[in-house]
Amino acid sequence: MSSLPDQKTPRLLRALAGEAFERPPVWFMRQAGRSLPEYRALRARAKDFIAFCHDPEMAAEATLQPMRRFPFDAAIVFADILLIPRALGQDVWFEAGEGPRLAALPPIEALAEQIDASTGRLADIGETLQRVRAELEPDRALIGFAGGPWTVATYMIEGRGSEREAARAFAYAEPEKLDALIEVLVESTARYLVMQARSGAQVLKLFESWAEGLAEDMFERLVVQPHAAIIDRVRAAGVTAPFIGFPRGAGALVDAYAEAVPVEGVALDTQAPAALGRRLQAQGKTIQGALDNLLLRQGGAALDARVEQLLEQWGQGPYIFNLGHGVLPDTPIAHIARVVERVTGKPAREPA
Ligand code: CP3
Repeated sequence: MSSLPDQKTPRLLRALAGEAFERPPVWFMRQAGRSLPEYRALRARAKDFIAFCHDPEMAAEATLQPMRRFPFDAAIVFADILLIPRALGQDVWFEAGEGPRLAALPPIEALAEQIDASTGRLADIGETLQRVRAELEPDRALIGFAGGPWTVATYMIEGRGSEREAARAFAYAEPEKLDALIEVLVESTARYLVMQARSGAQVLKLFESWAEGLAEDMFERLVVQPHAAIIDRVRAAGVTAPFIGFPRGAGALVDAYAEAVPVEGVALDTQAPAALGRRLQAQGKTIQGALDNLLLRQGGAALDARVEQLLEQWGQGPYIFNLGHGVLPDTPIAHIARVVERVTGKPAREPA
């Protein structure tokens, strides 16, 4: 019989190793952010959002804010998926109230030449991780992350968040160019994640937020293969931290993703059927998700009922309680507190 894992091992890591619990670990995407008044106060002090992400003291503080308030089992480093294009030499900024904007896509060869330098330009995020790990209780896990190459490529091609039509058209019109861009992102992302793991990230998550709308062969080429390649390269560097893959919107292709990508955990989006999650659990995957962030904001009896349903439908197997997409800025704190207390049995606290 294998020895029992140390009770101090964070519950999130135990779940990703395949353990099922009476009460699953819980954390929320975007648990740090505008839903918290203390975040808004901190944010007001930053020059801009990118500078905030690159300031280890402020970013560590933002990462820890929700951990002080709520009994979450994990912290996710405060950063953004668009730090990589910037580190590769494509300028990124955020227009107030509108979202990200990127300068025109540089030639792919120019981006490729910046791969070596990019990891060093992201060293601030490593320092944030070190600071957080030093302050976080040992039974709470620290998550590092990066965007999936396709999702990041859509922003690099289109220059903003969008319906991704130009990016998909680019994939058909200039397949070699797109494959070369994806390869640059695979390599820079793998190095970035290795750096994060060496700086204290115990779990690595790939946010493929725009996995929807891809035909099967495109999904294989732009999502499945690049994710598998990133994990291969991270493992080749000796990093053993478990991966969570989040192919948001992949729908009927999630099974193929879980089959082909060696992630320990699959994050499911809001529409994921109960049967899909159980099927993945039966195949040895830990699943995460999938409470609707709009329902969290709405609250009330429908929220309570959905929380019970999720715990019931997936709680028998390895499961991480989370949302299907990030916390919305206008979500009442009382709703977050209520759900997290229901899952953990522990109340939230007003920060001092
Ligand atoms: O989950 C977390 O708390 C960790 C930090 C995190 C952020 N962005 C902080 C952030 C993570 C994991 C991300 C990922 C991210 N960033 C994704 C993938 C996940 C998803 O939500 O689909 C994407 C697509 C981005 C790109 C991005 N960053 C957009 C489109 C925006 C603007 C939209 C918005 O909410 O303002 C951001 C900004 C951003 N990233 C904020 C935060 C807290 C808000 C910026 C602010 O405070 O002004």
